[in-house]
Amino acid sequence: MSEIYRASTTAPVNIAVIKYWGKRDPKLNLPTNSSLSVTLSQADLRTHTTASCSSTYPKEDTLLLNGSPQDVSGARTQACFRELRALRKQLEDSNSSLSRLSELPLRIVSENNFPTAAGLASSAAGFAALVRAIANLYELPSSPTDLSRIARQGSGSACRSLFGGYVGWEQGSATDGSDSVAFQVAPASHWPNMRAVILVVSAAKKGVSSTTGMQTTVATSSLFAARANETVPRRMAEMQKAIQEKDFEAFGKVTMMDSNSFHATCLDTYPPIFYLNDVSRAAIKVVESINAAAGKIIAAYTFDAGPNAVVYYLEENEKEVAGLFKAAIGEKDGWKCERGEKVEANGANLEKIKEEAGVAVELLKDGVSRVILTGVGEGPVKTGETLIDEKGEPIL
Ligand code: DP6
Repeated sequence: MSEIYRASTTAPVNIAVIKYWGKRDPKLNLPTNSSLSVTLSQADLRTHTTASCSSTYPKEDTLLLNGSPQDVSGARTQACFRELRALRKQLEDSNSSLSRLSELPLRIVSENNFPTAAGLASSAAGFAALVRAIANLYELPSSPTDLSRIARQGSGSACRSLFGGYVGWEQGSATDGSDSVAFQVAPASHWPNMRAVILVVSAAKKGVSSTTGMQTTVATSSLFAARANETVPRRMAEMQKAIQEKDFEAFGKVTMMDSNSFHATCLDTYPPIFYLNDVSRAAIKVVESINAAAGKIIAAYTFDAGPNAVVYYLEENEKEVAGLFKAAIGEKDGWKCERGEKVEANGANLEKIKEEAGVAVELLKDGVSRVILTGVGEGPVKTGETLIDEKGEPIL
């Protein structure tokens, strides 16, 4: 009896439009405010994970990411393994015909379809895929909500990657975190024409990690309390309404203001944290010019804990938004994909905005190393494509 049990999934990246920044419990990753994100298409950005277990494996659990062994001894990964094993054990205890998979070592193999060097936060897709793949392996009846509670302990933002479309994360109030879960605000099909262009900005060195940064903000920023207690609760309601009504102007305004508010608390942290650089600010300037030329908000920028810009827009404005960036930035990796080829460089509009944003356009051209064109997408998908063969060996 040396069976190799295997199950695979893919999981998406999500980019928040109302940011999670601050923990009231760092061990359980319980946040100081609710947040909301858009799940991005897995055709462009995803983690593919195969989870397996077998009595033939060495005793230690292992994880291979893009071919490199990862440390799984950290409290966050251990919490995910522990919770999932406990759920499997419950099933086994109530049904003696089930194999005792909860007692076997895990071997996990993961791959991202996007360049790690791009500096895109991959922990959300990574932990969502890890949790979903093990849940599939253990044949757990758990809902995405239940799994979001577990993935949250791996990385806070990962809980939102268990759903597709427009996804909230309720901060909750229970001390055990039982009510701090993700929920779907609307499926991707509700507002399917939401698109995003990601401007990957080459950062000279790695900045402060989200985990460390947010702890320092909570401890030192005086702007932070107003953000968590007043600003975000109001914006969560406004954002959900904007999504229900498919009101891009409201969606865009709240997105940009919330990104600015989050980065303001970073600057108000002591010592200050700078995630935005001159190229990021140039992207802001160009988005403002695009909106001024349109006479309304048709593009919305947002930035996570790094200089990359994510600009949301609706498909019908592709030429005005992505096309303008294509003309401004010029030939870069990412425009060459099928979708990128379709985007028409909008040189005429570029000439118009150059009058007031000429310097910003130059900065973008030099500072953006690649672009990723994507849009709203679905949640994790179970797949038959395995990264571990029938002998239990990784397929590299
Ligand atoms: C700025 O989820 O990476 O992207 O819970 O410590 O793993 P940990 O932090 P993480 O923080 C994400 C911060 C953010 C905003 C967001 O995604 O909501």
